[in-house]
Amino acid sequence: MSQSTIESILQEERLFSPSESFSETAHIKSLEDYQRLAERAKADPEKFWAELAQQELHWFQKWDTVLDWQPPFAKWFVNGKLNISYNCLDRHLTTWRKNKAAIIWEGEPGDSRTITYAQLHREVCQFANTLKQLGVKKGDRVGVYMPMIPEAAIAMLACARIGAPHSVVFGGFSAEALRDRLIDAEAKVVITADGGWRKDAIVALKPQVDKALADGAVPSVENVVVVKRTAQDIHMQPGRDHWWHDLQQDASPDCPAEPMDSEDTLFILYTSGSTGKPKGVVHTTGGYNLYTHITTKWIFDLQDTDVYWCTADVGWITGHSYIVYGPLSNGATTLMYEGAPRKSNPGCFWDVVEKYGVTIFYTAPTAIRAFIKMGDHLPKARDLSSLRLLGTVGEPINPEAWMWYHKVIGGERCPIVDTWWQTETGGVMITPLPGATSTKPGSATFPFPGIIADVVNLDGNPVGENEGGYLVVRHPWPSMLRTVYGNPERFRRTYWEHIPPKDGKYLYFAGDGARKDKDGYFWIMGRVDDVLNVSGHRLGTMEVESALVSHPAVAEAAVVGKPDDIKGEEVVAFITLEGNYEPGDELAKELKQHVVKEIGAIARPGEIRFSEALPKTRSGKIMRRLLRSLAAGEEVSGDTSTLEDKSVLDKLRGEG
Ligand code: WT7
Repeated sequence: MSQSTIESILQEERLFSPSESFSETAHIKSLEDYQRLAERAKADPEKFWAELAQQELHWFQKWDTVLDWQPPFAKWFVNGKLNISYNCLDRHLTTWRKNKAAIIWEGEPGDSRTITYAQLHREVCQFANTLKQLGVKKGDRVGVYMPMIPEAAIAMLACARIGAPHSVVFGGFSAEALRDRLIDAEAKVVITADGGWRKDAIVALKPQVDKALADGAVPSVENVVVVKRTAQDIHMQPGRDHWWHDLQQDASPDCPAEPMDSEDTLFILYTSGSTGKPKGVVHTTGGYNLYTHITTKWIFDLQDTDVYWCTADVGWITGHSYIVYGPLSNGATTLMYEGAPRKSNPGCFWDVVEKYGVTIFYTAPTAIRAFIKMGDHLPKARDLSSLRLLGTVGEPINPEAWMWYHKVIGGERCPIVDTWWQTETGGVMITPLPGATSTKPGSATFPFPGIIADVVNLDGNPVGENEGGYLVVRHPWPSMLRTVYGNPERFRRTYWEHIPPKDGKYLYFAGDGARKDKDGYFWIMGRVDDVLNVSGHRLGTMEVESALVSHPAVAEAAVVGKPDDIKGEEVVAFITLEGNYEPGDELAKELKQHVVKEIGAIARPGEIRFSEALPKTRSGKIMRRLLRSLAAGEEVSGDTSTLEDKSVLDKLRGEG
């Protein structure tokens, strides 16, 4: 964020209070209610979480210790036994919700399906039995590489039901990226579809799985289950590949939920860091179930009449926590949409809102900015009066986009919850509670009750009002990541030792910069590490660099983010070539395509800049700060005295 943006943000005086009618029926009705909860939680966090765990979830066996904290390793609800699929399904079947819509699915092109809790339970049980028949046992990892279809949620819940941790890989990732994740997780089975719809076209998924598994690259995978979605020709390898519908047909709908230990792994989800390969973030059962349940209930103010729509993909944490587990644990109706706004159908989101009478809508700032550009006439031509609450997630929202969302989509009547969180946190950490918190456009406002967040310097001391610092969390919370899969040292280093622990006190380091204003509102300023946020998707600069240098033409690559009006950030790659290659548009195109092949379309560089050399310090470190300024077209300011070869800078500016 530029200095001028920061200054204008900190002068934000607009305050939007929840309407009386909203507050009246809300779960949390006033600022006083919120403060009372937050204070109670702070005074005795274990009591606070234990009471909620008792009230909100079904346990097969109660825990004997609420929290076992051996920093930085936490265990929540020790020796408690539960099953999240039971909490998401079985317990609703004994209530009137049995025949309530659990999932409303709007597919492409024009397909749709509504699945009740009873039907969902049946399908999950059948698929759980299918997995068992394929030899999947408690503790075995299952890869899920799916389009946005109900079977994705069914697969996740079936894994949870038998205690097999799932590892969902976003369907937009390449075969190479999929392979790396399957290898790391040592997946035994992969669940996929022949293809999926993406913007009016069918994208092949099964062929990507074939490529990922080719030549025995992932020896752990024994079986592949394929949903028939787009019905194009695909290769089925006898013995390994099975059609979902064939297996489902033979599977019994009777499958009791396995009593899981509270600390048994529920899933692994890979996310990018500033160094190395993506990390397998490990989430466990009890704490994750509780935290996603209660955050969904209070932040989205879920009522039984709501039609709740989160536009994320199940391949990201937002889809895990706020399409599948949080809403279903609450017995809500959750909408899944396979489509995406595109030139041929720019109003499709608003059609979905109108068609189903969506009441709660949760999306990313990048989507909102794209809608602004597409024009107000699109939402204005639809009836959006069913909406009562709006949310955003994934990146800081600029106040202009917030105001547009408030006026054009929310009709000035819907509170907006700007929710800050991460793959690692499992659930939302800093957010308004819509019936309680007065919001300021661009601020995620206050920590959720029980979350002790702060802004500190590198010594771990709080910074002053409006001063920039690092966002940290001071006390463990139920849905925190437990470790990095197979790499506890990396877990310790990345999140808990960046700010050195003092007197046994560990701070969770989020990797974001933040400020607190005079009223205690949190303002998230973006990543402070080499992690980019492109359209709300997290990308490690190093991952993109590794993809680039794996191309024979590339000698060195340095990747930085450049501010972009819609995407937030865009990938810019500075490249030096091997001797026998010439820079040019053709090669730039080829390199962009190479990154798509190695990682996926979300990582495609917007711009490739060829250079004879990269700016380095005398010790050989690439000076990214300079590259960021160059990419943004700004004057290179600050200290350049450590630059080894000053002429490099002129050449990069095109003046050499
Ligand atoms: C990073 C986490 C967790 C949901 C999707 C992203 C950024 C997320 C906000 C927000 C400002 C935000 C942060 C964070 N971020 N939400 N409301 N305001 N920044 O999950 O891929 O793990 O990325 O997204 O930089 O660290 P993720």
